[in-house]
Amino acid sequence: MCNTDASPQNPAMATPFHPTEHDRLKALPKAEVHLHLEGCFEARTLAQWARAEGVALPRPEEDLFRFSGLADFLGFLDLACGLASTAERLAALSYGLCQRLADNGTGYADVIFNPTHWQAWHGRLGPMLDAMDAGFKAAEQDGLPGVGLCVSLLRTQSADEAVELVETLRDIRHPRVVALSVDGNEAAAGRTGPRFAEAFRRAGRHGLRRTVHAGESSGPEGVWDAVNLLEADRIDHGVRAIEDSALVGLLAERRIPLGICPTSNLVLRVYPSIEEHPVEKLRAAGVRVSLNTDDPALLGASLAGEYALCRQTFGWTDEITRSVARTSIEASFASPAVKTRLLQALDDW
Ligand code: ADE
Ligand code: ZN
Repeated sequence: MCNTDASPQNPAMATPFHPTEHDRLKALPKAEVHLHLEGCFEARTLAQWARAEGVALPRPEEDLFRFSGLADFLGFLDLACGLASTAERLAALSYGLCQRLADNGTGYADVIFNPTHWQAWHGRLGPMLDAMDAGFKAAEQDGLPGVGLCVSLLRTQSADEAVELVETLRDIRHPRVVALSVDGNEAAAGRTGPRFAEAFRRAGRHGLRRTVHAGESSGPEGVWDAVNLLEADRIDHGVRAIEDSALVGLLAERRIPLGICPTSNLVLRVYPSIEEHPVEKLRAAGVRVSLNTDDPALLGASLAGEYALCRQTFGWTDEITRSVARTSIEASFASPAVKTRLLQALDDW
């Protein structure tokens, strides 16, 4: 209710602050663990770069982010990333990602990027990492949230290419890199767990964490392989694990967190409606779940919005909301100091 004493005639009398649901969810201390740099392009920027390069876009700017499904979406990433051909553009994109984090009250993010999409940078992973790092450092200096990088394989790459990437990461040893990842279209690639097992084993030996896209374009079998063959510390999506109760039990027992992206799964047609999305069933079964945006600019998602959507659809209380945010922080590859700071802030929310 309004405080009738607080009138415009008496500005010294503060109007009581009634935070909206969005304000409260923005203030919720949280991390994001499933977010692609490739998914952070603004349509206006892409149109500008395309004009400068004389490249034709497939659709007008206002329809640019209209996708028929995952395959169409992944094809678009090659085009968009191909336009980020200079260090300045890459640094600006990285800086903009951190602004997006701050806008949602996100305290830290593990950011996935897949070198195969960035044609202008092929064979130059070191300089590419430096360009992104410059954007992230500038953001940190401006008080924006910190970021760790998860360098990703594409599901359609070969075993040799996968091992080569891991060995290159070992040679470069870039301090911004925290993990090896694999993403892309499992439906197009078939069962590829065995193909990537050696690369993931080596990544572990080199001190990298491991995160695996599975159970989005694959069924539960992809999630089993992520656990058994790729020794995933965390699974990106993983939602189709719900189709196998033994797998749900295993994820819960081993406390393997899922980085779930409800809006992405709706836009890319993994589920027809939020009511049919299994995030709540997985959570209620004891699986550790976090909420994430996947490709926020391209898919029209925001992190505060993902929390709002689940609270509204599944009746999540503040206690449940806090536990999901807690998982996001604990499941992240942030430093112990950052985790402690965010977890303390979460207790005060
Ligand atoms: N790369 C970017 N977004 C992706 C997604 N949702 N699934 C697989 N690969 C991706
Ligand atoms: Zn993803």
